[in-house]
Amino acid sequence: MSQSLHAVVVGAGIGGLAFAILARKQGLRVSVLEKTEQLTPVGAGIQIPPNASRIWSQCGVLEKLKKLSVVSEATQLRRWKNGELLCTRTVGEALDERWPWLVIHRADYQRILVQEAQELGVTIRLGSNVHAVDFDLGSLTLGSGEVIAGDIIVGADGLWSSLRNAILGHESPPQETGDLAYRGTFSLSALQALNDTQVDELCSKNIVTMWLGPGSHAVFYPVRCGKEFNLVLTRPDNLPPNIRTEKGNLSEMVALFQHWDPVLKRILSAFSSVLKWKMLHHEELTNWARGNVALLGDACHPSLPYQAQGAAMAVEDGAALATLLGLYQQALHRNGGAEEASKILTIPKILENYEALQKARTTRLHLGSISNQHLYHLHDGKEQEERDRILRATEWKERPIGEAEAFIWIDVRYQMAVVGRDTISDARVKWDRMISQLDTNE
Ligand SMILES: Cc1cc2nc3c(=O)[nH]c(=O)nc-3n(C[C@H](O)[C@H](O)[C@H](O)COP(=O)(O)OP(=O)(O)OC[C@H]3O[C@@H](n4cnc5c(N)ncnc54)[C@H](O)[C@@H]3O)c2cc1C
Ligand SMILES: *[C@@H]1O[C@H](CO)[C@@H](O)[C@H](O)[C@H]1NC(C)=O
Ligand SMILES: *[C@@H]1O[C@H](CO)[C@@H](O)[C@H](O)[C@H]1NC(C)=O
Ligand SMILES: *[C@@H]1O[C@H](CO)[C@@H](O)[C@H](O)[C@H]1NC(C)=O
Repeated sequence: MSQSLHAVVVGAGIGGLAFAILARKQGLRVSVLEKTEQLTPVGAGIQIPPNASRIWSQCGVLEKLKKLSVVSEATQLRRWKNGELLCTRTVGEALDERWPWLVIHRADYQRILVQEAQELGVTIRLGSNVHAVDFDLGSLTLGSGEVIAGDIIVGADGLWSSLRNAILGHESPPQETGDLAYRGTFSLSALQALNDTQVDELCSKNIVTMWLGPGSHAVFYPVRCGKEFNLVLTRPDNLPPNIRTEKGNLSEMVALFQHWDPVLKRILSAFSSVLKWKMLHHEELTNWARGNVALLGDACHPSLPYQAQGAAMAVEDGAALATLLGLYQQALHRNGGAEEASKILTIPKILENYEALQKARTTRLHLGSISNQHLYHLHDGKEQEERDRILRATEWKERPIGEAEAFIWIDVRYQMAVVGRDTISDARVKWDRMISQLDTNE
């Protein structure tokens, strides 16, 4: 019996953990190195759209996630000034209903994944800061000087990825998007204390509500089974270039939204403190892999969170890479061991195919988020009136091939391509193609 491949993952975020769980389920040995001493996820709520919940369903984690989340029935777009309903995108009508659209607290999401990974036998080492990567030896050096080798190294080290710089051979920091976000959560009781029937009504619904306004938008939804609520407000970035997050000034924030829907303003009044986050993204990288080292998630495609897809894409990457590596390991075992590896395929070849499977897709989503930035933030005027007219008239019908809706947000074909994706199945098809190409080359 040949040995299992050993994957070493840098970063225990959603992306790294998704890869770790899926790769372990495929029989790989997996170690995760995380620089923080304690996993205390920053951030508030996170949406898990159907393309990611499908993956969790396929690997048996969905029920655990559902226990601590809310199944969202729809996303509604409203006008900033008066809360007028512009458009409702119902799960099931416009989107695939076989897999749920979940909303969850980021801390719950990460904790469930850590537990699952540990139960499966993944080693998670906290306080392990990776300082250097050696592409020839396939090894990593920690701050302590310890060297850790793996058959595959996965850089899931997020927005400020140092493995990205190492793979590209130069510094490649993310760029400003022009927007920042205020993020926070409220308890149900804090919102009930507002004693406002409209706020209560909003809180009783399992939906994602968005208000679209000039240069800003707001997103509100329940987490923790409806016991807490998440609010994100975006606005033009006014943080200095080198500041990533900062404690926000509440009166400055309230002043910015003072002419918005009274319901939103009442919710805002429940904030006791708030954090400002500069939102960054990165243009498409030339490559995601070098030797036996590959990137996933925000390390290789940070984008604006305007399609609720950032973490979902990291999960997709993890699933695609784990599926290909699992099939590779099975093929190695069938062929009698590692010496035979080069006769079948090499790990760099697998990583190249993983990149081919994911890179163009994530770029499409990155550009989709920029397009939503425009849609969400139109200033009042002709273009905004036209947008609102189109949104109100949406029929959720798939257009003939070659035709597209004015906005991807309401484009059924686009949305199906995004949230309707079956990543694991796509990865299997990719594998079959790789094998048939080998056969024809022989
Ligand atoms: C305001 C806002 C709202 C968002 N909303 C959503 C949403 O609704 N849905 C969604 O899908 N996405 C959303 N996102 C995006 C989402 O948060 C990210 O895309 C996702 O968390 C990326 O996961 P990751 O695992 O790639 O990286 P991260 O979560 O950043 O994890 C990287 C990990 O690597 C560790 N690390 C870094 N360097 C090293 C090192 N040298 N050695 C060891 N460890 C290291 C870090 O400590 C960290 O734990 C949002 C983002 C923002 C800013
Ligand atoms: C809540 O509002 C109602 C009427 O809107 C009022 O009768 C009631 O006293 C209020 N309760 C509190 C605790 O403020
Ligand atoms: C907070 O914002 C208000 C309103 O914009 C301003 O008057 C005040 O000085 C700010 N406070 C701090 C501490 O910056
Ligand atoms: C899931 O679908 C969303 C669109 O709603 C998309 O932005 C995201 O990238 C998709 N995730 C994956 C992993 O494909």
